[in-house]
Amino acid sequence: MKVLTAEFFRSAHGSGDYVRDGRPEVAFVGRSNVGKSSLLNRLLGQKGLARTSSTPGRTQAVNYFLVNRRFWFVDLPGYGYAKAGKEARREWAGRVEGYFAQALPGALVVMLVDGHVGATPLDVQAYQYLSGLGAEIVVAVTKIDKVTRGRWTAVAREVRKTLGVDDSIPLIPVSARSGEGMKDLWGAVSAHFERAQEN
Ligand code: GTP
Ligand code: MG
Repeated sequence: MKVLTAEFFRSAHGSGDYVRDGRPEVAFVGRSNVGKSSLLNRLLGQKGLARTSSTPGRTQAVNYFLVNRRFWFVDLPGYGYAKAGKEARREWAGRVEGYFAQALPGALVVMLVDGHVGATPLDVQAYQYLSGLGAEIVVAVTKIDKVTRGRWTAVAREVRKTLGVDDSIPLIPVSARSGEGMKDLWGAVSAHFERAQEN
């Protein structure tokens, strides 16, 4: 898909702020610092659109980006941010759960797993939570630039096994740094948008 326009629309902090306008949406989910904002930027070809940082906890709200005036890309705060206090974690859970309560089952979830680290117990929890809500999920195994090509298949197999992902769900190696996998991920995203618009 050709990205003609991509613009920041809104930061949602609570239930009144979520966007529900019938446009299809794709949500980027994963551990803090896994590279959600970077991947969103790379897909849209705009480096500074979503704010990124080497320090975990950069994205704090649910951020909406309007693509080609037709679709939403939604950048979520990451989970598992070790330094976050109890209060911050509660806020995170409230925001993210509030978001998913209204976005699912309709939205496509791009779940990011760090290819260098592998799937963590929190990733397993998140995956089960999202599947339980009926989400259509694509797993993006990211930071694949840190993994030698010869190990990709083994890494993908391990992530699939740890998360308990069956073969019907695509698992795509990607890198926001090298651009690896963008075409495949766009393929999955576009297919979702087309299906969503048929309904
Ligand atoms: P939160 O907003 O805190 O949840 O983090 P995030 O998941 O949005 O991560 P972000 O995109 O801010 O990136 C975190 C760090 O990982 C930054 O230092 C990025 O440069 C780095 N990073 C992101 N994607 C990649 C990648 O594909 N490869 C490598 N090597 N580094 C990456
Ligand atoms: Mg972020």
